[in-house]
Amino acid sequence: MVETYKDGEKEIMLLEGKTALITGAARGIGRASAMVLAQEGADVGVADVLPEVESTAAEIQKIGRRSAFAVFDISDPAQVRRGVSEIREELGEIDILVNNAGIVTNIARLTKMTHEAWQREITVNLSGAFYMIREVIEPMIAKHWGRIINISSGAATGGLHKQIGYASSKAGLLGLTKTVTLEHARDGITCNAILPGIIGTELVGMMPEEILQMAVATTPARRIGTTEEVGHLIAFLASDKAAFINGAAIPIDGGASLNTGTLGSRKEIKELEKSTTTF
Ligand SMILES: NC(=O)c1ccc[n+]([C@@H]2O[C@H](COP(=O)([O-])OP(=O)(O)OC[C@H]3O[C@@H](n4cnc5c(N)ncnc54)[C@H](O)[C@@H]3O)[C@@H](O)[C@H]2O)c1
Repeated sequence: MVETYKDGEKEIMLLEGKTALITGAARGIGRASAMVLAQEGADVGVADVLPEVESTAAEIQKIGRRSAFAVFDISDPAQVRRGVSEIREELGEIDILVNNAGIVTNIARLTKMTHEAWQREITVNLSGAFYMIREVIEPMIAKHWGRIINISSGAATGGLHKQIGYASSKAGLLGLTKTVTLEHARDGITCNAILPGIIGTELVGMMPEEILQMAVATTPARRIGTTEEVGHLIAFLASDKAAFINGAAIPIDGGASLNTGTLGSRKEIKELEKSTTTF
């Protein structure tokens, strides 16, 4: 952690001297979080199946940090090995891994959910994180310092209508997170999960207005979250300041995972529905 001064003000960068790797960084939460980590002083490798991830690396370089990108599919262990080694060749060993890439392939009830959709969601969202961790953890153990942050979802604890594969994969990430902590806390490694509520990414912005309004109405904070807010939580968990937070599952959802179904809150929701909601 380094203190610098900007316009006479003390500025503390959380991640100076660290190297991060974040998956799913071509857009959305991954891209915004990569920028936050870079603003906090880290060099940041970015990975995605989309070649557009190159532009995230270019943005990071523009603010004076080192960056490298790799295009690969996290669900394929051979591609993960190749992709991580490409990033490592450019940036050196990875201190901070952010498993952010995730997908929803099919919105359907259990009885209509296809085998392929279930399989794909589990393989990308859960196995992908496992392959990534296996690829970076040995040097973390050797260095006795490492940070692993898995982007789960509120669906992990609350379930999600018509997204059984997604919710199950995100719940699986919690088991993965806790087991990494049990096995590697004594190696100076922390592994935590973040459970976002609805976050205003490009894709979420394309959801039907009434669904977004409903999400806002059932969120105590009465708004959706921003991608940068998730980025700041990731940066904190990745820093030395968070060394004793381990195996945790941390919601970032404006209180949405709390009990919003009580009579009192229903009244509030009705009142809110009468007014115009902005977010
Ligand atoms: N946006 C939300 O409201 C929200 C809420 C809860 C959890 N999350 C989780 O946060 C993470 C990021 O979500 P987002 O909203 O930014 O999604 P997004 O779809 O905008 O971005 C996900 C990125 O992951 C990449 N990706 C997908 N499959 C991949 C694979 N097999 N290999 C490598 N990269 C792959 C995509 O190309 C994309 O760039 C996901 O894990 C998602 O489940 C998002």
